[in-house]
Amino acid sequence: MLKERARPRRSKGRNFSKGRKLMDKLAGLSLIALVSLVGVASQPALAQATAGKKASSNTNNRSDSLVERGKYIVERVAMCERCHTPRDGSGNPERTKWLQGGPVQNQVTYPVANYAQSEPRIAGAPPGTDEQFITLMMTGISRTGAPPNPPMPPFRMTREDAQAVLAYLKSLR
Ligand code: HEC
Repeated sequence: MLKERARPRRSKGRNFSKGRKLMDKLAGLSLIALVSLVGVASQPALAQATAGKKASSNTNNRSDSLVERGKYIVERVAMCERCHTPRDGSGNPERTKWLQGGPVQNQVTYPVANYAQSEPRIAGAPPGTDEQFITLMMTGISRTGAPPNPPMPPFRMTREDAQAVLAYLKSLR
């Protein structure tokens, strides 16, 4: 059985046509490589002319998208506004006092030690240094070395998310 199977594989005709196919493939590949090389070679002047422009607009895009991502996290995911924005008479957040802090929004129905009576302003410059803020968002530990009083949630963000939130808050200056 084994011998019979092995034989056709060794036949010259088959090997030859396999070789041909491989050659054809290689030829095709090198043609593609050649075309793309020619393409690249004819571009450097254009590339150099736009490089400076691109570099500056890339930086802007990057910080814009960081702020956008931070806004999304603050307004849609972590809901910082629920506590850090004062309400109007009907209980709606006051847009003119967005994230500017005020008296605590929620009261608990059971006793909690150290329940906070107010939320700080976080728009513009949140309390503490940038790194302390990022640590707070990543670990739930504030600049005092302990968690803030409840109801401030103990967030566990990634560094990227924490940086995005900070970029957004700073953009509200
Ligand atoms: C459920 C209510 C609530 C939510 C939601 C909330 N916070 Fe707070 N936050 C508080 C309270 C209350 C305090 C004050 C705690 C204290 O006095 O110890 C506080 C304090 C802080 C502080 C000050 C910490 C310090 O070192 O003094 C920062 C910064 C902060 N919050 C940022 C945020 C951000 C950013 C978000 C959203 C990602 C957020 N908070 C969401 C209630 C909340």
